[in-house]
Amino acid sequence: MNTVELIRKKRDGKSLTDEEIKYLVSNFTKGKIPNYQFSSFLMAVYLKGMNKKETAWLTNAMLFSGSVINLDSIKGKKIDKHSTGGVGDKTSLILTPIVAAAGVNVPMISGRGLGHSGGTLDKLEAIPGFQTNVTLKQYKSIIQKCGAVLAGQTKEVAPADKLIYSLRDVTATVESIPLITASIMSKKLAEGIDGLVLDVKTGSGAFMKKYNDSLALADSLTDTAKAFNKKVIAFITDMNQPLGNYIGNWLEVYESIKVLQGEMLGDLVDLSLNLSGAMIYLGGKALSIKEGTEISKEIVASGKAFDKFLEIVKLQGGDVSMIKHPEKYPKSKIHESLIADKTGYIKTIDNYEVGMASLELGAGRITMEDKIDPKAGIIFYPKIGTKIKKGEVIAELYTDEKEKIDSVKRKLLSAVTVSNQKTTSVKLIKTTMVV
Ligand code: URA
Repeated sequence: MNTVELIRKKRDGKSLTDEEIKYLVSNFTKGKIPNYQFSSFLMAVYLKGMNKKETAWLTNAMLFSGSVINLDSIKGKKIDKHSTGGVGDKTSLILTPIVAAAGVNVPMISGRGLGHSGGTLDKLEAIPGFQTNVTLKQYKSIIQKCGAVLAGQTKEVAPADKLIYSLRDVTATVESIPLITASIMSKKLAEGIDGLVLDVKTGSGAFMKKYNDSLALADSLTDTAKAFNKKVIAFITDMNQPLGNYIGNWLEVYESIKVLQGEMLGDLVDLSLNLSGAMIYLGGKALSIKEGTEISKEIVASGKAFDKFLEIVKLQGGDVSMIKHPEKYPKSKIHESLIADKTGYIKTIDNYEVGMASLELGAGRITMEDKIDPKAGIIFYPKIGTKIKKGEVIAELYTDEKEKIDSVKRKLLSAVTVSNQKTTSVKLIKTTMVV
């Protein structure tokens, strides 16, 4: 096969075969196709797209660039969740112990935050001692012991994705549905799962801002999961405002603890329980998502979810006393309140800007090499459709960098539009696809 011919074929809008896609991915992964040629191929895919079959073949080629974990020795179903990410999205920390406590295994491999959106690994690593870097042997043994693991991607899992993603990042080819699909699914399929729940975000803080794009991504992800005979449920959910109120790594662990202790209400709790409900249903421990959601509520109310979280933290080396006594966590040097400068109803929130404000305080990173401050972040109170009064505290800022405060305050105030007229709240779960 000839790489130039294959690039030309895709450039001209033609479909590639399974063998041609395998050739490109496997030779790129082995270093036999240079970055400049693979970049051209990625741009051709970005511009001309891929059909369902090509997307499944690309996923397959990326999946088998590494090892596929076999969890057959572990009793019971293995169900994971993937979210396309956003601001304040900490549902993984909440639903993993709930689902494991319901008797369904959760073998979760997560990623780090980049840009405005956070990542589960950074949140977990805010817990002193918590190890996300586990070997395959530890991965299996932790699931065996407690029914869940919260781990980072090892070099054995879908190595092609790591290489391809780095190239996409610098060649403006990230926002391509077939490339996103293959990237997400190759990693998830490598985990050894029986089924997957997808949370595809839509809105100003999401990767896909427009509903129709989120729907197209959800369709592509579910089609690909089906092509691999995996059970899948996809939700399209709102990301026009932070999920919950806490943004920043330790702050999000703290909010998750409060949810697991049954002390919170609102969008974060609703979404977490729906997602865990869907996972429990896919895992065969409930007859519907609704029943799974009810089971989830009982598991939280009984204290089993919090106990399971402690068990997971302990098995992964984390300091359990911090989870039991989160007030002991080190504090940021600076804690300032943001005061509303007008009275009215919250109409819109530029959630991307809220995420960027948190990053500026130290909670996020621009490049993968940047260091994050686990204590930094924002507690952000306004929700679309609610009323605020001039002089009221609308956010709390935490950072060690005093010089960042003024610009972050300005950014947050201009991210929120306030109307004199009553505004309506947003619908959290826009679509549920059971396929
Ligand atoms: N998340 C991934 O893992 N891959 C993408 O391409 C986009 C989001």
